[in-house]
Amino acid sequence: MEPQIYLTLVFLLVLNLSVWVFSTTHHNDYSRSDFPVHFVFGSGTSAYQVEGAANEDGRTPSIWDSFAHAGFGHGGNGDVACDTYHKYKEDVQLMVETGLDAFRFSISWSRLIPNGTGPVNPKGLQYYNNLINQLISNGIQPHVTLHNYDLPQALEDDYEGWLSRDVIKDFTNYADVCFREFGDRVKYWTTVNEPNVFAIGSYDQGLSPPKRCSPPFCIITSSKGNSTFEPYLAAHHILLAHSSVVRLYRRKYKKQQHGFVGISLYTFGIVPQTNTEKDRAACERIRTFYYGWIMEPLLHGDYPNSMKENAGTRIPAFTTRESEQVKGSYDFIGIIHYSKFNVSDDSDALNTTLRDFSADSGAKLLAVQDILADEEYPVAPWALQEVLETFKTLYGNPPIFIHENGQRTASNASLDDVSRVEYLQAYIGSVLDSLRNGSNVKGYFVWSFMDAYELVDGYKSGFGLYYVDRNDPELRRYPKLSAEWYKQFLNGSRTSLVGAIELEEDSSLASLGHSFQ
Ligand SMILES: *[C@@H]1O[C@H](CO)[C@@H](O)[C@H](O)[C@H]1NC(C)=O
Ligand SMILES: *[C@@H]1O[C@H](CO)[C@@H](O)[C@H](O)[C@H]1NC(C)=O
Ligand SMILES: *[C@@H]1O[C@H](CO)[C@@H](O)[C@H](O)[C@H]1NC(C)=O
Ligand SMILES: *[C@@H]1O[C@H](CO)[C@@H](O)[C@H](O)[C@H]1NC(C)=O
Ligand SMILES: *[C@@H]1O[C@H](CO)[C@@H](O)[C@H](O)[C@H]1NC(C)=O
Ligand SMILES: *[C@@H]1O[C@H](CO)[C@@H](O)[C@H](O)[C@H]1NC(C)=O
Ligand SMILES: *[C@@H]1O[C@H](CO)[C@@H](O)[C@H](O)[C@H]1NC(C)=O
Repeated sequence: MEPQIYLTLVFLLVLNLSVWVFSTTHHNDYSRSDFPVHFVFGSGTSAYQVEGAANEDGRTPSIWDSFAHAGFGHGGNGDVACDTYHKYKEDVQLMVETGLDAFRFSISWSRLIPNGTGPVNPKGLQYYNNLINQLISNGIQPHVTLHNYDLPQALEDDYEGWLSRDVIKDFTNYADVCFREFGDRVKYWTTVNEPNVFAIGSYDQGLSPPKRCSPPFCIITSSKGNSTFEPYLAAHHILLAHSSVVRLYRRKYKKQQHGFVGISLYTFGIVPQTNTEKDRAACERIRTFYYGWIMEPLLHGDYPNSMKENAGTRIPAFTTRESEQVKGSYDFIGIIHYSKFNVSDDSDALNTTLRDFSADSGAKLLAVQDILADEEYPVAPWALQEVLETFKTLYGNPPIFIHENGQRTASNASLDDVSRVEYLQAYIGSVLDSLRNGSNVKGYFVWSFMDAYELVDGYKSGFGLYYVDRNDPELRRYPKLSAEWYKQFLNGSRTSLVGAIELEEDSSLASLGHSFQ
């Protein structure tokens, strides 16, 4: 452990008793005991981002493997990643030391069922059983996602993956295997990770696997795709596949396994670029297009009217039977949240005949920081509160797990990740405020447990509580300050540390330490 971290730790312990003295805002001053008793705190990763062993023991490539190997992986790929395929025991031990209640991870479909359909791969089955057993025997709840940007490449080749209705049957069979094999121990299932930005990034802008788009909408050019209607089609099939899986669970497993099935959404703070009626109206349209797109079918069995008006026949229609199946097909919603965007009116785009998702919304998202560069996120905890308020008031206040929230830092940044501590402290505080204001939040997962292979940064940035030394053939893990902070918080400490850490930096530590002993 670095001396700096050790010092800070000592200081944190001292602070347990004293820190309220320095606290300025309510966001900074709370402890775990302020949350409901059954509120779950965890952290997460996803399969391709950490497992490695990409070509081992029968796994076949996913669309993310192909994307990374085609040169879009920001200088990296998930072939080795953090090698959690071999190091899961050691990692679960770190989770125990950190004091996690729960661990969120995803299953690699093409590891469990190579090529997407057909027989189960015994080695894949064994790996996930081992991981789940290791978690359970250490008292850590597994929360499992079934699809995280990693459809088996074979299904992309066979029928263009999420663009075909064939995926509904194959995804349901895959989920059936997961429920049958793991459902005695896994109680929280998420079908598809952030389908809203998966559909836009992957089928409109060409930014993520399977990287489809058409001019003039591509951000990275692609020879395949059609940005004007594929995002709607992919999301439609995701909703149908999701609801088919929920139906299966409720019919076949719920009674014995007593678990819950949900879906997650990418969310962000929405700020009008100018304080004009036009930009405020554009913000409402962005909410409808990014959240209503998925939430309204789940709540009411159909897409929002404004989307149907603007996208016309390019947005598929649900049959009566499909609509009934989609309606109510969730036990919880996962919220993925990092940052905020400025939004400006772009209603002129609605006059053009060739339109993509963004043009159909008549609004433009303007990044307040470059989301593709390895910059840190602004600390804007109000944005998460606003999202939770939106889900409370517009979408029926569903049970919510904050599935991802965390700070990005350069992967070579210091282990003394003060900015991540500040970020987590502020956002967890904002979750508490929302809870107190009637939000139905059930849990919170820091993204990510360790520095992982990131979709938009490769290995250039890290979100981890633990640093992974990629220059070390053993890929050793080291706790960052944030890991120690989370550990202290989970063990009951009050969290008002920001001022304290600054004090430590101007070396008032010793004198402070003395005065509190
Ligand atoms: C997966 O598909 C590839 C290409 O069709 C084939 O060569 C391979 O044998 C298949 N693997 C399995 C396990 O079915
Ligand atoms: C995309 O699909 C739309 C609607 O089906 C069609 O009008 C358009 O020609 C297609 N564009 C491309 C580039 O294939
Ligand atoms: C974002 O919008 C705010 C006003 O809501 C404005 O002050 C700020 O300059 C905008 N940022 C950018 C990058 O345009
Ligand atoms: C788009 O259409 C609206 C009314 O339908 C009109 O007011 C506006 O000027 C048009 N914009 C452009 C750029 O043609
Ligand atoms: C981290 O890496 C970047 C890019 O290679 C470099 O510019 C920067 O100086 C490095 N920072 C540290 C602290 O090593
Ligand atoms: C608290 O909830 C009420 C009712 O939904 C809402 O009007 C208010 O804006 C919320 N406060 C915050 C800070 O979100
Ligand atoms: C957790 O807190 C208790 C007392 O509050 C303390 O005795 C124990 O050592 C702490 N555990 C860790 C891992 O810090």
